[in-house]
Amino acid sequence: MPPTQITKARALELREQLNRLNHQYYVANQSDSTDAEYDALMQELRAIEAEHPDLLSPDSPTQRVGAPTAPEFTEVTHPVPLLSLSNVFADDDLVAWHRRVSEFLEIDEFPMVCEVKVDGLAIALTYEDGVLVRGATRGDGLTGEDVTANIRTIGSIPLRLQGDDYPQRLEVRGEIYFPKKAFDAFNEERVAEGLPPYMNPRNSASGSLRQLDSRETAKRPLNVWLYSIGWAEGGLVPQSHSGRLEAMSGWGFRVNPWTSAVPDLNGVRDAYARAIEEREGLDYLIDGMVIKVDDVGYQDRLGFVGREPRWATAYKFPPEQVSAVLDEIRVSVGRTGALTPYAYFEEGVQVGGVVVHQASLHNEQDINRKKIAAGQRVIVQRAGDVIPQVVGPTPGQPAPPEYRLPDLCPVCGEPVFRDTDEAVVRCVNGRCPVQTQRLIEHFAGRGAMDIEGLGEKMAVLLFNEGLVHDVADIYALNAEETQIRLKEMEGLGELSVQRLLEGIEASKKQPLPRLLFGLGVLHVGAEVGELLADRFGSLEGVMDASEEELIAIEGIGPRIAASVRDWSQQDGNLNIVQRLIDSGVDPRQERREPQDLPWSGLRFVVTGKLEAFSRPEAQARIKSLGGAVSSSVSGKTNYVVVGEEPGSKYDKAVRLEVPVLDEQAFLSLLSEVEPSAE
Ligand code: IVH
Repeated sequence: MPPTQITKARALELREQLNRLNHQYYVANQSDSTDAEYDALMQELRAIEAEHPDLLSPDSPTQRVGAPTAPEFTEVTHPVPLLSLSNVFADDDLVAWHRRVSEFLEIDEFPMVCEVKVDGLAIALTYEDGVLVRGATRGDGLTGEDVTANIRTIGSIPLRLQGDDYPQRLEVRGEIYFPKKAFDAFNEERVAEGLPPYMNPRNSASGSLRQLDSRETAKRPLNVWLYSIGWAEGGLVPQSHSGRLEAMSGWGFRVNPWTSAVPDLNGVRDAYARAIEEREGLDYLIDGMVIKVDDVGYQDRLGFVGREPRWATAYKFPPEQVSAVLDEIRVSVGRTGALTPYAYFEEGVQVGGVVVHQASLHNEQDINRKKIAAGQRVIVQRAGDVIPQVVGPTPGQPAPPEYRLPDLCPVCGEPVFRDTDEAVVRCVNGRCPVQTQRLIEHFAGRGAMDIEGLGEKMAVLLFNEGLVHDVADIYALNAEETQIRLKEMEGLGELSVQRLLEGIEASKKQPLPRLLFGLGVLHVGAEVGELLADRFGSLEGVMDASEEELIAIEGIGPRIAASVRDWSQQDGNLNIVQRLIDSGVDPRQERREPQDLPWSGLRFVVTGKLEAFSRPEAQARIKSLGGAVSSSVSGKTNYVVVGEEPGSKYDKAVRLEVPVLDEQAFLSLLSEVEPSAE
């Protein structure tokens, strides 16, 4: 029987009432009803919806938990990328950040907003006509995973917005976290059930949100703080960050009350001191304070450097320090053969929320400068995800004898080479197994091909068994006879073999920048990997690149270019690359030609005082159009942009006959390529 008008109206009323109660309970922290009353309303709505399924709607509070529908998460592309933040660690960095903003905007003071930096995982929530339609993780900032079903289980996330002034389409961003107290209780329960406890609230928030069955997520008391608008369409949003937070709060979002609007640096300093003081008492982890320029017009002008906004920065907390007795100084050999000393703590040290057994000691000189030795009590520190470090001995201990790295490689026993220029001690034995093992480990590591099941132990095992001699061999492991050998190997269960092979297969889909990083070319880190991938689009493209083409890329200098070129020319590497490609490891992406941008290849120098914008702003505009900005005039300079009181650079430009543009000429040059510049 179709529902009557009365039933329809009742369903609507119940839904609104329940959503309101939900908001009061989870967001406003005040409850006007008892659990029993809430349950009774919920029961009534469930009954109506069961009888009239056509009355069901996605914003109904009965629809927070559902059964799994897909075997894996689907990827979503963020319409506006999720960015990261630059960091400052001390007052002078903070002052420098403020000065850069101030010089860019050419104003002394500008209002800012300070927020705590919640240590959870970033999320983007999309609403259409006020109804939650999607929740996505940050992923790599450009694409994330669709975790809508799991997001819906979080009570403080509105399924429907309040009020009537929200934009028709809206994306808000924030941080999901596992509350501290609930985390401890949750872990106690796990241990009681014989399950291993989670490491820390941050990892478990991430694990909880990535459950494939939302009924599992619903069992975890996750919560959220929303801190910004990603984008909005069909409606107006306030033009200040503080105004936006207020509007978001009005729409029913959980916005952190720990937010302060400050007029200047002293205000920032006060807020920072308060954050440090109140940190322990908060029921969520924070690892710093975020400072944002309040005026959105200023934010737009300031823009970004790479993936970090100029208009915000994270003021990190000082790392936690503890003292412990250093049991031993051990030495590891890296994938370039470099010997690195590290501290070893037999019992483990509790620092920065985890127990560590090893801490970095940098190098021989550093140990001797700091006067560190085994048997001493030392200070260990760890900030966030950063590798723990030994800061130095606790005061009052006698100076120990000088430390010297061994003369023989601790792995292969061959004599090491002391490179005095580089201050590095290296094992130069090309057949030293550790370098290959480390390279395999690096290739399979998290920032690179991310192969599940192929960690340090497995890399050593595969190498020692003679199954993997280089990274291309990894993709030959699925051959039938190899599979049989793997399964016969001691200490390897069928399950771990299967996991490894699946991990290897899945890694073939990793994007090109990760592959380039994974190959372990000297000086090619994750960022350079991205630059190379953008410019050349394929592994072969990179291998064929000339040194000139490499140097022409912004962000790649002669040192990196030479290293990439050297690597590509070695026969052994050509062979590895060919075998990778033959095994189907050949990710490709669209090439971004340098001439795609109107001013690519042009070199500018900006000097003197401009009217329409500050010097940094003018330089940023040039770079965004593909032009390069240098600080001194040379024969290679194409244009010198000259403002008031230009000084010696102007004279030099005249002398070298480099074309000079006054501000008006520069503006008209700009307007040719970006019509909205004036
Ligand atoms: S603003 C462009 N505000 O920190 C501005 N981020 O490195 C980007 N985070 O994972 C973010 N609390 O999710 C902002 N109050 C806050 C934050 C915050 C935590 C996280 C963010 C991202 C990382 C940025």
